[in-house]
Amino acid sequence: MADEPPIVVGVSGASGAPIALRVLDALRDARVPVALVVSDGAVAVLREECGLAPEALADRAQVVYSDHDLAAPIASGSRATRGMAIVPCSANTVARVALGLGDTLLTRAAHVHLKERRRLVIVPRETPLPTILLRHLTTLSELGAVVLDAAPPYYLHPRSVDDQTSYLAGKVLDHLGVSHQLYRGWKSEAA
Ligand SMILES: Cc1cc2nc3c(=O)[nH]c(=O)nc-3n(C[C@H](O)[C@H](O)[C@H](O)COP(=O)(O)O)c2cc1C
Repeated sequence: MADEPPIVVGVSGASGAPIALRVLDALRDARVPVALVVSDGAVAVLREECGLAPEALADRAQVVYSDHDLAAPIASGSRATRGMAIVPCSANTVARVALGLGDTLLTRAAHVHLKERRRLVIVPRETPLPTILLRHLTTLSELGAVVLDAAPPYYLHPRSVDDQTSYLAGKVLDHLGVSHQLYRGWKSEAA
């Protein structure tokens, strides 16, 4: 596991911090190494929604980088990775990535994933969706990013917010190519 390229997980300051925790837990269960970056904006949301400080996420990652560390390995395309997820992805981070800004490690790593044509999954969360955000999301989709909206799967009859959180985390892992048991697909016979 130690020599395997990591999946980069960026946590930014949108609502949905529990989805990030579920993604990190599932990647740990799958024994996939994670390089974690938590934005400054995420600190208040992590505290509000999960009652956690960013340091509490450290044991869910192989390595944690400061969002201000622009010399970290994942700031370069020469560092192999298995892809990146930004979960949740704030409107601010969507805009900065769509505009090609790499002024923080999270946005720089996203830029690297786009330029290297690697998988980038983003989970934006805002409602209603303003036109400017829709424009930026369109740009990112056109550049190859997977835009995965944080909508509940009513057709799977979730019984709780916890079920919905697992479903959304599972969708992130689906698009990162990591198998999991976070949700059962439509009419699936599997557990
Ligand atoms: C409790 C809380 C919830 C927030 N929810 C959202 C949200 O759902 N979507 C969003 O785009 N910004 C949200 N924000 C605002 C962002 O955190 C803020 O724009 C921040 O600057 C984003 O920084 P970052 O993109 O570097 O993480 C929220 C802020 C707080 C404190």
